[in-house]
Amino acid sequence: MPKLGVNIDHVATVRQARRDIYPNPVDAAIACEKAGAHSIVAHLREDRRHINDKDVSALKKTVRTRFNLEMSIHPAIVEIACRIKPDQATLVPEKRQEITTEGGLDVVKNFTEIKKTVAALSARGICVSLFIAPEEKQILRSKETGAHSIELHTGCYANAKTKTQIRRELERIRNAVTLGNALKLIVNAGHGLNYTNTRAIASIKGIEELNIGHAIIARALFVGLPKATQQMLTITGNK
Ligand code: PXP
Repeated sequence: MPKLGVNIDHVATVRQARRDIYPNPVDAAIACEKAGAHSIVAHLREDRRHINDKDVSALKKTVRTRFNLEMSIHPAIVEIACRIKPDQATLVPEKRQEITTEGGLDVVKNFTEIKKTVAALSARGICVSLFIAPEEKQILRSKETGAHSIELHTGCYANAKTKTQIRRELERIRNAVTLGNALKLIVNAGHGLNYTNTRAIASIKGIEELNIGHAIIARALFVGLPKATQQMLTITGNK
């Protein structure tokens, strides 16, 4: 059964809607951990649209499970990560105009830069994961960067409409997990997972952790964050 990492970015999104000091993502992290989450994920975007530098420092001090910092490979962000030293850094592609991370890193095209970033972060004792599409060429190149783990982008699966499309996307993810495991990479997955579509992904053997944000924070509006986290832990087979 995969562990559950909760992405708390959207707690900060609500705060930033009013440029206020609440709700505090650190309080959210504490609530998720108390409810049983295995790690806390936050994305320090270059435009600081939700999580900011102060949040990252505070999360580093507060998180007791594992702090997974999502980040681009922009040198200024890498410098912050090297200073803060989260337990894990997940490298993602980043575009200013996108609503959320749209695709995986192109490790094939940007191999040299990504490898350099993996080395810089690893030298600071940070485990590095690469957020990639479930594609063989991306997985093979990811291994060569020296990254500890990969996170498979489940967006295409989450967006699949027909049964055939869903089956095809699940098969792609299953094959990617098998290849990642064979290469001795830790394999995580996430993006677009919710209370309806997560069970099928959680039942794939070989996935270490699922990282889920938007659906949990959205449900928390109605049931509270502890219950929303616990319900996802149940779906992922942890309760
Ligand atoms: N994993 C990664 C690498 C992401 O970029 C995101 C989105 O921030 C997530 C997981 C969580 O996606 P969602 O909010 O759709 O659950």
